[in-house]
Amino acid sequence: MGQTMNVQPATALDYRRLAEKKLPRFLFDYIDGGANDEVTLAANVRDFQAICLRQQVMRDVSSIDTSSTLAGEAVGMPLALAPIGLAGLFGRRGEAQALRAANQFSLPFTLSTVGICPLEELRALSSKPFWFQLYMIRDRGLIKELLLRAQANGCTTLVFTVDLAVTGMRHRDMRNGIMSNNLKNSLAKAWQIGTRPGWIWDIGIMGRPHHFGNLAEVIPEPNDQAAFRQWIGSQFDPSVTWEDIAWLRSLWPGKLLIKGVQEVNDALAAADAGADGVIVSNHGGRQLDGVASSISKLPAITAALGGRVEVLMDGGVRSGLDIFRALALGANGVLIGRPWVWAMAGGGEAGLRDLLATFKRELEVAMALTGVNRIAEITPAQLDNLR
Ligand code: FNR
Repeated sequence: MGQTMNVQPATALDYRRLAEKKLPRFLFDYIDGGANDEVTLAANVRDFQAICLRQQVMRDVSSIDTSSTLAGEAVGMPLALAPIGLAGLFGRRGEAQALRAANQFSLPFTLSTVGICPLEELRALSSKPFWFQLYMIRDRGLIKELLLRAQANGCTTLVFTVDLAVTGMRHRDMRNGIMSNNLKNSLAKAWQIGTRPGWIWDIGIMGRPHHFGNLAEVIPEPNDQAAFRQWIGSQFDPSVTWEDIAWLRSLWPGKLLIKGVQEVNDALAAADAGADGVIVSNHGGRQLDGVASSISKLPAITAALGGRVEVLMDGGVRSGLDIFRALALGANGVLIGRPWVWAMAGGGEAGLRDLLATFKRELEVAMALTGVNRIAEITPAQLDNLR
């Protein structure tokens, strides 16, 4: 595809290449990269590819239906858009574009704590409730305010991320000086932005304001990465424990999903603390490099929870086939991070709609050719040599 970019993009990776051409290098790297040597990032994708499906024929697959439920809501397929910070820098009002595309497929969109579009902006254009993601912030008064705002704006599900006690060592971002405003780094970033005039107009100018929409009162300066970093350093709370989840549970009346669990004991603790579900995740390989892939951790967690709470997973899902693989290993659903950002950055809202349609079609093909008609019928029986 590298030589023939005028052809219609078909896959998440095709959109990745388009995104690379449209975004300034430091922003593309921020999306694309992982922690340290990106070993976990690569394992997330590779381990999916190693899971073989079992082709089964002559089963009457004339009534394929991908619909299901996630966190108590009807969905067009068991897929949600993961929270992505700063998405409004990758597409004009990026979160809004993604929400509209997700609505079209009856899929949940998750707004990040550090999204560019505020809750109110999304509420105004959404035909359906969306999900809100939160990190634990030291200022518990601010947490309460954010929860009330999320509720007032119709959010049904709170995704609480627990794998960011500290920020992972992302070498690409360090090389690009992404969080530093010293003269050398600023000039380098300005140079990269200068090579993408389309981005300057479409997002840099027409996509304003670039506040962290939900935190505009505490970080008022648009585009101030240094203020952002300082705020993260002082406000992201590394002292958080399961007791804080119980506190959060008492405040949040909707569904609560704990995101960033990799181990059985943590998944059980999340359920004990009153969560409605866990998201098996290593933050897309952006936090602790060297941990195992999410998909390899999934089966033990679904077995241990035994249906007590919902189990979702993310990390490395790149197609509808991967959705199928995760479901066969016991997940109720999956989230995608980079694929939706690549499609939105590379092809806008239409690009993301196109990619979601492809994922749905791929899931339907996998169901038809493994001999099942309903999501609930997908089990390990549709898998071959499990490694
Ligand atoms: C993320 N992720 C993330 N997670 C979260 O809980 N809050 C956030 O603000 C962000 N921000 C963010 C930005 C970018 C650019 C990426 C790539 C990821 C993690 C995300 O929700 C999800 O866990 C991973 O992206 C899943 O892996 P894949 O699908 O990207 O392989």
